[in-house]
Amino acid sequence: MKRAVYPGSFDPVTYGHLDIIERAAQMFDELIVAVLNNQGKTPLFSVDERVKMLREATKDIPNVKIDSFNGLLIDYAAKENLHIAVRGLRAITDFEYELQIAQTNRKFSEEQLDTIFLTTSLEYAYLSSSTVKEIAYFGGNISECVPDFVADLIYDKYKNKQ
Ligand code: PNS
Repeated sequence: MKRAVYPGSFDPVTYGHLDIIERAAQMFDELIVAVLNNQGKTPLFSVDERVKMLREATKDIPNVKIDSFNGLLIDYAAKENLHIAVRGLRAITDFEYELQIAQTNRKFSEEQLDTIFLTTSLEYAYLSSSTVKEIAYFGGNISECVPDFVADLIYDKYKNKQ
C-alpha cells in the first residue's frame, strides 16, 4: 500500500491546502495529513481545532486521514512507517525553504524520508493561512480562500479576541 504524509501547521486549512490534499490523495492509497503541534508558535487554532477542521473539510475523501504530531517530522514518519512527505510549492520563494527542509529530513532520516512537491494550482498560488487570518482580522472577505465553515470559525475567534 502506497502511503504518504502531508505535514503542516494548517492554522487554518485553506483551499490551497485542500487542493494539494485532493491531488495527493489520488496518487497514494492513503494520505495522512499531519498537523504540527508547534510549541514555538502561538497558533490561532489549537491542534484539536485544526484537526477537526481538516476532518470536516476532507470528509468526502475516504483515503485521507488526519493526525497530529509533536517534534520532528522524521520521528513521526518513522513511528508511522511513512517514507514520503508531500508539500505544496506556491512560488519560487517557497522553494529555498522547502528544499532545505526536504534535504535535512532526508539526511537525518538516513534516506528513509523523501519529499515530493506538488505545484499549487495557479488559482491558489497567492494563498497562505497568514494572509487569510489578516484579511479576516480586518473584516475582509475570505470566502474564496477557505470553506465557509472555516471562515465562520476564524471570524468567531477574532470576535472573541476583541
Ligand atoms: O505549514 P507549515 O508551517 O509551512 O509547515 C511546516 C512543517 C510543519 C512541515 C515543518 O515546520 C515541520 O515539519 N516541522 C516539524 C519539525 C521538523 O521536523 N523540522 C524539520 C527539520 S528543520
